[in-house]
Amino acid sequence: LQHYIHHFQPAQETNKPTLLLLHGTGGNENDLLNLGHMLSPGSALLSPRGNVLENGMPRFFRRFAEGVFDIDDLKQRTVELADFLQAASEEYAFDAHQVVAVGFSNGANIAASMLLLRPEALAGAYLSHAMFPFEPEAQVDLQHRPIFVAAGRSDMLIPTENTQRLINLLEQQGAEVQAYWNNTGHTIIHEEVREARAWVEKHF
Ligand code: MLT
Repeated sequence: LQHYIHHFQPAQETNKPTLLLLHGTGGNENDLLNLGHMLSPGSALLSPRGNVLENGMPRFFRRFAEGVFDIDDLKQRTVELADFLQAASEEYAFDAHQVVAVGFSNGANIAASMLLLRPEALAGAYLSHAMFPFEPEAQVDLQHRPIFVAAGRSDMLIPTENTQRLINLLEQQGAEVQAYWNNTGHTIIHEEVREARAWVEKHF
């Protein structure tokens, strides 16, 4: 089992999903804790640190260049992360069927990959500034796994067509996708958080 430095915050309320928080390149396990509290107050939070280093910057998988993924590495590390999530649900006694991924950028990309390779690991996902990962080898059943995709029209890293391709891919696998667009770049603004929080409240 792959080890991750991580932070775990136990649930303060029952019947709330556990949030799997996945930071962006150069981030760590503390980055998204406040976002997690805002999205679902009282939820348990599991926040691993990506164990790939790119010039000292933690990530969840390797890339050849900005926006160019090492797909083999992505797939392998996706499975490792899903296994870690399963082991953590046993160690910390949270319901493995009630886990919602919350990922930003690199973290959102591995969350998207997990939806395709290990759909049963996630009850849903909030993908903030994610990219199209890869075409799955077979149809994946993402029905009843709501997904919130947030994107910026001025994102220098992710062309709008790429986000649209991701949305189409998820919808083709049966997911109910709620897309939220704004005019900013590769960043999370308050409005996005408000929309995402309403989405969490509605679905979980
Ligand atoms: C990635 O490698 O996941 C994307 O380029 C986004 C990022 O910079 O993290």
